[in-house]
This record gives sequence, structure tokens and C-alpha cells, in this order.
Amino acid sequence: MYALMINVTKTFLPPIDEFKSILQRAWDKTWITNRGELVKELEQSLKNILGVPFIPLTNNGPIPLQIAIKTLELKGELITTPFSYVATTSTIVWENCQPVFVDINPDYLTIDETKIEARITAKTTAILATHVFGNPCDVEAIDRIAQKHKLKVIYDAAHCFGVKLRTNLYLILVM
Ligand SMILES: Cc1ncc(COP(=O)(O)O)c(C=O)c1O
Repeated sequence: MYALMINVTKTFLPPIDEFKSILQRAWDKTWITNRGELVKELEQSLKNILGVPFIPLTNNGPIPLQIAIKTLELKGELITTPFSYVATTSTIVWENCQPVFVDINPDYLTIDETKIEARITAKTTAILATHVFGNPCDVEAIDRIAQKHKLKVIYDAAHCFGVKLRTNLYLILVM
């Protein structure tokens, strides 16, 4: 019996030899936790490349989502997308908030901004949208809705590293 694997998506990895000399520095110093020099260098390089002032690296993708929800002190209902990695929804639940799903745009696979307002209730405090496979959400429309209803907005930008919309980087969370 033959099994045929068809990748829906596949991680792009650069040649491992490019990383070996960098790893060697961590091995030489035996410092791999608590903000070693490689972490600081990576943060600085990312700030330079992306032109943003703050990049706190975290160990995985759910952590920055949780930090955002905690920092904004969100409660109640968060409008979100059903088409994302499980962390987008599980962090909402983990932070004792309730996910409210809005369907996606079939062309861009991002949250359908035209359907958001119908799901807003008195308990809604934020929109947590995911940029998908390099397609950014309609951030301008989402900003307008958020301002009108006094909602906070978080973008899960795991799939949109470095993507620019017009001239702005909508890269709230990078994983
Ligand atoms: C949209 C999205 N958000 C969050 C995550 C979580 O990131 P991590 O794999 O670092 O836990 C992923 C991971 O694939 C993701 O695709």
C-alpha cells in the first residue's frame, strides 16, 4: 500500500549550514535561556528590517496573543475568525473571554469585515482577526468598525510576516 502525502502548506527552511555557526555561539557560551545575546541580536535585526520600535520575542505564538488580551484588559466577547490556527481561539478561552465567530471572505480567507457588525453585542470588547497566508485583513474597514463601536483590535500576524499594506506594516503579532 502506498501513502501519498500532499502538503497543503509546507514550511520553508533555509540551508542548515547557515545556522550552524550561529548555533555554535550559543554552544560556546552555554547560554540558551534568559535573554542571551542571540535573542537580543535577533530582536534588533527584526526591528531594523521591519522598522518598528518594539519587538519582544516570545517562545511561541499563543503567548503574544495572551499578552495582548491581558494588556488590553479584555473581558466578555471577542469577535474572531474560525479560519486560523487553534491558538487564536484557545487564547481567547484561556483568558476567560468568549470567542464569537464571523465567517471568512472566500477569496482572501480573512475575516469578512462586512459581517462583523452584525455580531457585535453589548458584551463585545475586541476584534481578534488573523491575516491568512500572506493576505492581510481589510484593516481599514476593521479600524472603522472598531472606532465606531469603541472596540480594541488585535491582529494575529503569524502568516503575514513583513507584509505591507500600502505603506503600513500591520504586524501586531509576529510568531
Ligand atoms: C495564525 C497562527 N496563530 C498562532 C500560531 C501559533 O504559533 P506557534 O506555532 O508558535 O505556537 C500559529 C501557528 O501555526 C498560527 O498559524
